[in-house]
Order: sequence, then C-alpha cells, then structure tokens
Amino acid sequence: MSEHLTVVDHPLVQHKLTLMRDKGTSTAEFRQLLREITLLLAYEVTRELKLTTRHIETPMEEMDAPILAGKKLALVSILRAGNGMLDGVLELVPSARVGFVGLYRDEETLQPVQYYFKAPEGLKDRLVIAVDPMLATGNSSAAAIDLLKEAGATDIRFLCLLAAPEGVARMKEAHPDVHIVTASLDRELNSKGYIMPGLGDAGDRMFGTK
Ligand code: URA
Repeated sequence: MSEHLTVVDHPLVQHKLTLMRDKGTSTAEFRQLLREITLLLAYEVTRELKLTTRHIETPMEEMDAPILAGKKLALVSILRAGNGMLDGVLELVPSARVGFVGLYRDEETLQPVQYYFKAPEGLKDRLVIAVDPMLATGNSSAAAIDLLKEAGATDIRFLCLLAAPEGVARMKEAHPDVHIVTASLDRELNSKGYIMPGLGDAGDRMFGTK
C-alpha cells in the first residue's frame, strides 16, 4: 500500500461495506451503515493526531496523561454526499469544527465550479479532514482540496468509502501531500463515471432520491 492511500481492511468495515453495496439495502439501513463505517474509518484517519500531556489526579495518584494537542480538527463535507459521513466522524471527535464545500460540474467545460464554501477559521493550524464517500474521477475532490488550500489548510486528509484507481491517481497528481483513507479500492470507473463494482449513487442511496 502506498503512503498516499490507506485501505482499511478491518473485518467490521468490510462486512458493513458489503451490506452497503447490496442493492437490496434500504435507505435507512444505508445511512446507518455509513455512519457506523465512517466512525471506524475516522479512527484510522485520526491516527496521527498530535498529543500533549495534562497533569491530572486519578483516584490513586497524580500523573501526566496524554491529551490531544493544538486546535480542534476541521471536518469538511463535500456536498451533498459528504454530509452522510459527518455524524460518524463527529461521534468520535465531537468537538471538531465543520465546513462545507459545494461544487457542480459545468456542462460545457466539464470543470468543477464552486457554488458554496464555508470553512472554520484558522484552517492553517488544524488537521483538515475532507469527507466524500465516493472518490470517482477525483476532479471534484481535487478541486475541493484546492479551495481548502487557498483558505489556508496545510495538513489535509481525504476520507472516503470507496475509491476508484482513476480518482486515486488524479488526487496523487494534484495533491501528493493529501493522504487518502478508504474502505475499498474498487476496480475501475465505467463510461458514466460510476465506480465499479461500487454501490451506485451514494447521495441517492443515502437520501432516497431515486
Ligand atoms: N458518485 C457516486 O455517488 N457513485 C459513483 O459510483 C461515482 C460517483
């Protein structure tokens, strides 16, 4: 596995992912599974958070105990499907600050265009975790990371549920410093830009819009 990509092969993650891929899984189950699996992935993506110590007293004696250092991390949802991953991360890191990036694809240029951007202040001093369940072509993900860097972010991770090799390559080319954590590196993109074998349209499946 490259340093640029971590595939979380924990059995619980893989089990839940199979349930999510199954087209017979209901919207409610899909949402619940996404929340659970994101919590497990969040454990991996926060592995290198910096620690300091705090002097405390246990009921037995005093000690210098480890505690998170620095500013609260920033969690940034890439709209709209990223919103399905917010709760899972927030359950693990309730004090995280939350931002949103909205992009649409211009039908003529096929380039991502920003329609919404709201990020927590002080991005440069925070670990920034961008979340989007599907890393497909990587174009909108790379554009979202561009915006975060323009806003000052320097330490960014990308957390997704499924990644296509094409998306990983695009991100590596555009943002080699951004580590990707995913539950699966799938086979390929199809001609319509869907991940194969994938799980279909993540937004539609979590919000019941189809
Ligand atoms: N976005 C999705 O929701 N699904 C895919 O397979 C690719 C992009």
